[in-house]
Amino acid sequence: MSQSEDNLLKKIIGHAKEYGFIYPSSEIYDGLSATYDYGPNGVELKNHLKRYWWEAMVQANQNIVGLDAAIFMHPTIWKASGHIDAFNDPLIDNKDSKKRYRADVLIEDYLTKIENKIAKEESKAAKRFGEDFDLDQFRSTNPRVLAYKEKINAITQRLKEALEQSALKDLKSLIEELGIADPVSGSKNWTDVRQFNLMFSTELGSLSGASNKIYLRPETAQGIFVNFLNVQKSGRMRIPFGIAQIGKAFRNEIIARQFIFRMREFEQMEMQYFVKPGEELDWYQHWKEKRMKWHQTLGLGQDNYRFHDHLNLAHYANAACDIEYQFPMGFKELEGIHSRTDFDLKAHEQHSGKKLQFFDPIENKSYVPFVIETSIGLDRLFLALLSNCYTEETLADGSQRTVVKLPAPLAPIKAAILPLVNKDGLSEKAQELFEQLKFHLLCQYDSKDAIGRRYRRQDAIGTPYCVTVDHQTLEDNTVTIRDRDSMEQERVSVTSLTSVLQEKCSMVQLLKQL
Ligand code: GAP
Repeated sequence: MSQSEDNLLKKIIGHAKEYGFIYPSSEIYDGLSATYDYGPNGVELKNHLKRYWWEAMVQANQNIVGLDAAIFMHPTIWKASGHIDAFNDPLIDNKDSKKRYRADVLIEDYLTKIENKIAKEESKAAKRFGEDFDLDQFRSTNPRVLAYKEKINAITQRLKEALEQSALKDLKSLIEELGIADPVSGSKNWTDVRQFNLMFSTELGSLSGASNKIYLRPETAQGIFVNFLNVQKSGRMRIPFGIAQIGKAFRNEIIARQFIFRMREFEQMEMQYFVKPGEELDWYQHWKEKRMKWHQTLGLGQDNYRFHDHLNLAHYANAACDIEYQFPMGFKELEGIHSRTDFDLKAHEQHSGKKLQFFDPIENKSYVPFVIETSIGLDRLFLALLSNCYTEETLADGSQRTVVKLPAPLAPIKAAILPLVNKDGLSEKAQELFEQLKFHLLCQYDSKDAIGRRYRRQDAIGTPYCVTVDHQTLEDNTVTIRDRDSMEQERVSVTSLTSVLQEKCSMVQLLKQL
């Protein structure tokens, strides 16, 4: 991560804590790494994101229904899904610093350093040649850039092969050959690379022992697969149909860093779409486009998203991609879209001995459906919103403000109700307005400090509208509505205030763009 990216992330972390979005978990006990608590504004934003996803998936599609499966499930589920045998990360310890790393991430970080060197060469050349600079030509001809690229390709190829073949010795050799040192201590004294299963386990009931071992789910998807027939039968669903679920997932990440990007306890919003075998690649394309469109309605900038198509497919997939977003630390995975074939349902048939098939009345035969999965991390989506909307502005009068320009339907507080001054009956009138609005929108009444400072506080938590009660209100029953982004004010009558604000903050305006 470059210094400016690192600074931006630090600012966002500080802002999130100061303004009640996100706190480090167990902070008074010095925290618990990679776990976070969402504060009063954070929980509101998170709930709105869940609602927007749910309405776009379940409410807007006649053939998608919801589910809320238990976190604890029968342990054989994780045998069938492959998580017990293969949900591993390769880890390596530094003998001197006693720090633990993911071996593949150490190598990827090394690759990023080479990429940064290429970027430096490019920016130096751009300065040297000025307007005549041709970036494509420079990239394809400059000897230093070409040598760096060759090195990147060679390392990437070896890394890929080592990971695919679980060749742990090769991973260690690569780390040693590249002279990769512990980023903390600088030591190159490494242990061998070992596989580390990412699932958390605990015991069921009061007896400990292997037979009572259960797992905290590492993905919500398996709860959907094992309920496939329950939902299909009870809802009389016909293929194609989808099951959507939002819930917590747990992974014992070896390196958990970059704030809420990689956590040990996080939330997923997943949808499994069951289709007729042979039609899966068309549906895969369909969901790729639909999910990208959903992201773009959030208004975070089209250029901040890209697809990353997987070239090395997992054994159960016949197509897969990520929707990547440009986080403060660069383009990273935000959502995965996978064509999972019939792998999961078939594996559960084998391990449970129960049929998980759909009877197609038109073809008069039963089959195991194929599955397209869309899987997005709610916390990553939260980080995308917060980091994109966090803005530091210098105003016309030279003063500074920090404003979080969240889309109004997602903002934690929709309107602040502010008496201009705390006298002449203005606070009473403002309280009356709060009572008028409170069953329709989440509002905040604030009468402390000068009006300018109150506006700044609301800007910092992303409140899109400030309703100010002034002396004119007492004369003609009108108030001003200040727009957070333009800072312009319009006067509206108190009688229409609720409907005006509801319209401005309605989720429907996002849904209609889909
Ligand atoms: N059921 C498929 C599945 O779980 P995944 O790519 O491992 O696929 C899906 O995870 C999404 O969950 C990711 O795109 C990411 O947004 C989120 N996610 C995964 N691990 C995470 C972590 N440790 N912290 C936060 N979000 C995570």
